[in-house]
Amino acid sequence: MFDSGVGGLTVLHECLVSLPEEDFVYLGDTAMFPYGTRDPDLLRERIRRIAELLLGDGAKLLVIACNTATSIGEGVAREVAAERGVDVVPVVEPQAEIAAAITDSGRVGVLATRNTVESGAYRRSLEQQGRSLEVTEVEAPDLAPFIQDGSPFDEGVLEMARAYCAPLKRAEVDTLILGCTHYPLVAPMLQRILGRDVRLVSGGHAVAAAAQRTLESRGLARLPDGEGAYRFLCTGDVDSFRDLGTRFLQMPLGEVERIEVHGADYS
Ligand code: DGL
Repeated sequence: MFDSGVGGLTVLHECLVSLPEEDFVYLGDTAMFPYGTRDPDLLRERIRRIAELLLGDGAKLLVIACNTATSIGEGVAREVAAERGVDVVPVVEPQAEIAAAITDSGRVGVLATRNTVESGAYRRSLEQQGRSLEVTEVEAPDLAPFIQDGSPFDEGVLEMARAYCAPLKRAEVDTLILGCTHYPLVAPMLQRILGRDVRLVSGGHAVAAAAQRTLESRGLARLPDGEGAYRFLCTGDVDSFRDLGTRFLQMPLGEVERIEVHGADYS
């Protein structure tokens, strides 16, 4: 499983709950955070290298726990995985399915990074759900970096959230896709701004269910006979990943190993 930072830990947590017997390796590409404003071609190359690294390590399933990586690089990750006969579980489509199923008014909002919005991935996925939906997409370039930074939430982030929510309120969405794995961390703030009746759709639960279905259908699921292990790799500062990651996962991270992703950096 990989993400640009610690946001994907919200997805990992759901997987640890749904698939407790499995072993997980989580890679946080913190050296290259944020993915949301990186050049898409360079990002695709980076994602190729990360997929090769994780699958080379023997992964039996690849979970892309990052909406931006899914939007920009799902295809490339699938190419790498297909060469090894491994399946990929991405984040965008499972959320689109849920949003289309639960919206009453058909007015669906998407809050995401710039790259995710510009890729059109959510719009396409929502269009394929067999319902006529009115989609309002809002880029939130500063929100994930604020969360990743680990600073305490203050009035500034509240104002930022209000500004991003304004077009969603105007569009009267009744369902909002949290199109970035960092955003569940600010869900209480968004829910208060948008009101109780707006349903927030985050990716973790749906991704965990998709991972479970895939492993079972391939006959790759472990027998439920105890707890599996989990470990962490990151490309940036190990201590800040561990500190922030522990707060996100609300479980001990243990050892975090610093690794290099060769051949696809931005320097
Ligand atoms: N986890 C990333 C996402 O889901 C965070 C944003 C970023 O790296 O810019 O899009």
